[in-house]
Amino acid sequence: QRGKVIWLYGLSGSGKSTLTRALERKFYEKGIFTQILDGDIVRSGLNRDLGFSDTDRSENIRRVAEVTKLLKDTGVVTLASFITPTQQLRTQARTIVGSSDFIEVYLKCSFETCAERDVKGLYAKAKDGKIQDFTGHQSTFEEPENPDLKVDTEHHNPQECLEQIYAFVISNLVLDPTDH
Ligand code: ADX
Repeated sequence: QRGKVIWLYGLSGSGKSTLTRALERKFYEKGIFTQILDGDIVRSGLNRDLGFSDTDRSENIRRVAEVTKLLKDTGVVTLASFITPTQQLRTQARTIVGSSDFIEVYLKCSFETCAERDVKGLYAKAKDGKIQDFTGHQSTFEEPENPDLKVDTEHHNPQECLEQIYAFVISNLVLDPTDH
């Protein structure tokens, strides 16, 4: 198997974790070997020393991109799921991994809808001043200019979003390492 890094990003609550897990299941059914790296999980382990300042987010993405590169180099289709709020961070990740092995998937969902969903209760906490540097609140999220794929998770249901991502990604995978 030939590796690839699929980088899903967007606001907290835009559907990253759900779609990443669903994508993993779909790959599993096809016999494709994957590994997930997810912000919430990585931040309780490998990156537990990091917070949400611009500097820490940059270090978070740098380390994670290095790990995804290692996994990709061993042939794993690696699913990264991080807010990755700025263009600079996305470029940093792409540069570390190598552009030709990096697929950028933007999960587009407005701040208002993510705040309404508020699955983890973080938007309410940020509003009450109980969380600092919350993305979209006191910390910026830049709309990407040129993602490889943009998926509107606000207006499409999870199954539709999954189909869109899967179709795009599968057409960009070269699974046999001898193929060019
Ligand atoms: S990133 O900006 O560095 O890419 P990352 O994806 O790793 O962020 O982590 C985001 C997750 O951390 C969110 O899904 C949320 O559960 C949690 N979190 C805790 N505090 C914050 C905060 N201030 N801003 C954003 N997410 C936060």
